[in-house]
Amino acid sequence: MFDRVWRNARLATMQGEGLGLVEDGAVAARDGRIAWVGPRAALPGPARETVDCGGAWILPGLIDCHTHLVFGGDRADEFERRLAGEDYAAILKAGGGILSTVRATRAAEEEALLAAALPRARALMAEGVTTIEVKSGYGLEREAELRQLRVARRLGAELPLAVVATLLAAHAVPPEYAGRRADYARLVAEEIVPAAAAAGLADAVDVFHDPLAFDDADATLVLEAARRHGLPAKLHGDQHADAGSAALGAHHGVLSVDHLEHANPAGLAAMAAAGGVAVLLPGATYFLRETARPDIAAMRAAGLRMAVATDFNPGSSPALSLLLMLNMACTLYRLTVVEALRGVTVNAAAALGLSDRGRLEPGLRCDLALYRIARPAELCYWIGHNPCIGRVVEGR
Ligand code: NIG
Ligand code: FE
Repeated sequence: MFDRVWRNARLATMQGEGLGLVEDGAVAARDGRIAWVGPRAALPGPARETVDCGGAWILPGLIDCHTHLVFGGDRADEFERRLAGEDYAAILKAGGGILSTVRATRAAEEEALLAAALPRARALMAEGVTTIEVKSGYGLEREAELRQLRVARRLGAELPLAVVATLLAAHAVPPEYAGRRADYARLVAEEIVPAAAAAGLADAVDVFHDPLAFDDADATLVLEAARRHGLPAKLHGDQHADAGSAALGAHHGVLSVDHLEHANPAGLAAMAAAGGVAVLLPGATYFLRETARPDIAAMRAAGLRMAVATDFNPGSSPALSLLLMLNMACTLYRLTVVEALRGVTVNAAAALGLSDRGRLEPGLRCDLALYRIARPAELCYWIGHNPCIGRVVEGR
């Protein structure tokens, strides 16, 4: 006996290499897990409840594997300054940019951070997102970083949404450490990573590896601290220049390197060999008017798995739509529809180190997204239209 069955649906299971299509399919859930998936005619056994999907498409619940959802304030003023000719790097070097969000985030109470984050998470959910990653990185001191991570945990507790919390204390050098970048990296490695791990507040550790932020030695310190505390790692890398982030990430066995607009083919091949995932963030390319593009051809040639995420944050990607990112990944990077959709499901799960979701397959979490569309390409095609008609998290 199943708890619930969704029938009269077309399925994109993401099994195998493509979309894993099943016409006239059904999905059955038991105890929050997928118990059966396949053509309706073959559905075994009865269910306590049956949902007629009216021919809708069912995908695995979408996964936004890279967001900075929790922060104080916004940067609309900086957007206007950039329109008047200033650039992102210059604003950051002058103490604005990420550092202005740090000031606003440090000044905000936990409840205020949560209240601001809730509607953002709901906006992502409305499109069929069932798992998000949320990074810290606007505290840059122990207590403020832990506060951001606690808010991430509370989002997951208050909403029907799975939240993965990532410590990104190595996001920028805080003003107190101006000119002492390596000292701050040591503080992150020796104090903040251990504190987040001890409090059980971090599922992963991230480092902004970039000429604007942390170099190889700094990143290595933090990545080694993550490993000592049993936490998987990720890098923001090769975003503004070829910093060798892909190769560094491969060397440390990180789950993913994200951005990669300037990554070189040898680094990408090393990532593929190490089993990492390239997380593509077209919203940041677009919003910062970056002209370089990630080397998709090199990623394909290397067999490197690609994920797609919003990078939602106030400075470089104020984008609360994962469906829009699908469109941008196709239009700006020329991903195929299959690559883009695998990028927000099965490969996004891999970028978070999660093997229990991202496909429709027995045994995995029953996280589903239902869409009123005629074909999956529509999810990448429409701009500013949300065809999501339902969302299921752990079978409900
Ligand atoms: O992913 N690259 C660094 N971090 C963010 C930008 C954060 C900000 O500008 O506030 C990113 O693009
Ligand atoms: Fe980011």
